[in-house]
Amino acid sequence: MTDSVFQGRHLLSTRDYTKDELMWLIGFAEHLKDLKKRNIPHRYLEGKNIALLFEKTSTRTRAAFTTACIDLGAHPEYLGKGDIQLGKKETVLDTAKVLGSMFDGIEFRGFKQEHVEQLAEYSGVPVWNGLTDREHPTQMLADFMTMKEHFGKLEGLTLAYCGQGRNNVQNSLMITSAILGVNYVNATPAELEPDPEIVELAQKFAAESGATIRVTNDPVDAVRGADAVYTNVWAAMGEESQFAERVRLMSPYQVNAELVSHIENPDWIFLHCLPAFHNAETEYAAKIRDEHGIEAMECTDDVIYSEHSRCFQEAENRMHTIKAIMAATLGNLYIPRV
Ligand code: CP
Repeated sequence: MTDSVFQGRHLLSTRDYTKDELMWLIGFAEHLKDLKKRNIPHRYLEGKNIALLFEKTSTRTRAAFTTACIDLGAHPEYLGKGDIQLGKKETVLDTAKVLGSMFDGIEFRGFKQEHVEQLAEYSGVPVWNGLTDREHPTQMLADFMTMKEHFGKLEGLTLAYCGQGRNNVQNSLMITSAILGVNYVNATPAELEPDPEIVELAQKFAAESGATIRVTNDPVDAVRGADAVYTNVWAAMGEESQFAERVRLMSPYQVNAELVSHIENPDWIFLHCLPAFHNAETEYAAKIRDEHGIEAMECTDDVIYSEHSRCFQEAENRMHTIKAIMAATLGNLYIPRV
């Protein structure tokens, strides 16, 4: 690997990065986290301007990109759905050309993967995918960093995902696990099993890394041998009309005290990209409770607030890992061989 290996690249999917590159980025994020904790400046993006495009709401991704930019010495400019012409009066291509002529890097959170790909193709600056309907690659850096912080390694671990099998987070988890040599098991109902193209791609990476990739309809079978258990929302933004069916299909996959009692590793950890619907204390969750008669969805309070939970460390790691990808692809820094 040379010092130019990351410069000018995009992060649209982890599939575009090798195992060594992803491990280097995670290690760099650990270093940046240490610098942050010790108040040591790390202004690798001094003077740069970063556009933060959000078609969807966000807490972690927006906060992480914003604080990461500021710590790196860059100026973050939030351009929300209601603020700019994109999608209403202006095409993605034209927006890409305009923003690329003014900004040094672009983050995009939106619906279509093609849109983040078009921004990357036409802007001329690094583009980072802050979530599309297909993938959530910046989330992956934080998730696997959190696993590495706890276990000291990634290769050979087993990650069990108990959740809706067709969403962006599951797609990215399956692909990234396969690249990194992490055994991956997806427990999901037959009706919601992962896209065969994603499974095929993951199997291809797994053949190189030695990971095993498995899909099951049995959540107990999935968690029994797991080191980390991950879950995610049963219905994404835009899928609210499917709630009744999702509650029926997904209830057996809820990560609760009974399910986690089957995990054999006493040192297991719980991960969730957040926000999580673990009680009915939010406006949104109370509506689901009133309409569908359930107090929690994908996980319960006794799991997310347990000693095994690393969700909030995982959320903090969004900032450190986003710093790492922005600094590596855009910053003026020396990246040694790995
Ligand atoms: N995990 C995640 O992407 O959180 P936000 O939707 O709050 O950005």
